Amino acid sequence: MNGEWKELEGRLPAWLEESRKRTASGKVASYIPELANAPGEALGITLCDGHNGVLTVGDCGLHFTLQSISKVFTLLLALMDHGEEGVFAKVGMEPTGDNFNSMLKLELVEPGIPFNPLINAGAIAVSSLIKGATPAEKTERIAAFFRELAGDSSLQVNEAVYQSETKTAHRNRSLAYFLKANGVLEHDDIEEVLEVYFKHCSIEVSCMHLARMALVLAYDGKDPQSGRQLVPRRYVQIAKTFMITCGMYNESGAFAIRVGLPAKSGVSGGILALVPGKYGIGVVGPALNPKGNSTAGVHLLETISTAFDWSMF
Ligand code: DON
Repeated sequence: MNGEWKELEGRLPAWLEESRKRTASGKVASYIPELANAPGEALGITLCDGHNGVLTVGDCGLHFTLQSISKVFTLLLALMDHGEEGVFAKVGMEPTGDNFNSMLKLELVEPGIPFNPLINAGAIAVSSLIKGATPAEKTERIAAFFRELAGDSSLQVNEAVYQSETKTAHRNRSLAYFLKANGVLEHDDIEEVLEVYFKHCSIEVSCMHLARMALVLAYDGKDPQSGRQLVPRRYVQIAKTFMITCGMYNESGAFAIRVGLPAKSGVSGGILALVPGKYGIGVVGPALNPKGNSTAGVHLLETISTAFDWSMF
């Protein structure tokens, strides 16, 4: 066991309790009604190293849905299905500075394609690229890919969260129909594209799953446990770059300065982060700050990254 890991093990419980205080200033997401049932005071973290080491502290037994964290992995699958040219014909490579569900730039900036694959509009466009004859087949391919990366064959869509989102997703529906009008979506049935998108956002995980998925990214697409290359290195490089520039939405700049690690958040309060070549990290803290990121989760990652000088910059 290396010194850093031992020190982490010793200090993490106190750091977590310190960060937990921040949950009081956050709010659990409620625009997807089912998400409002999450415990606002919860905070948990799991770290995996490449040698079967696992550290887990706090409320790691909590199960939650991937939400926007899934967008990193559907991007990887779309790249594996279509290559860079195919994917970047439909989405751009630039941060927006706008909210994750914004429609603004789709109308303002020609040619009306989403700025990047991690905002809702971009992720809906990416969902439309996943190969499969039916929405069920596409969703199953996505779930199978996530299961392989997470090392758990039991990952499933949380049906209650899926139903709750599909019934209330007026804004995402507007985005998708706008994308159809702009020629980004080629499908005739936009509801089928939305079904795939809502379902991959509703796949249920724990911090352990996030940490294992992140570990594969930390090792450039290779599962360090089996030695198998699960994703081409180039595509992981693209995904990690988006995580730095857009992974925490319009808080990505501040996060890059304060934490300095590739990361992706979701409105369920999850954050997937990685220390390149070293660790995969999964955090959950459902109370969110106004930008939609876990308020205590961001604080905890900043504390750890600062203490061990993990910033990539
Ligand atoms: O489309 C939505 O609004 C959700 N399924 C995902 C949004 C999300 O996680 C944004 N996160 N910060």
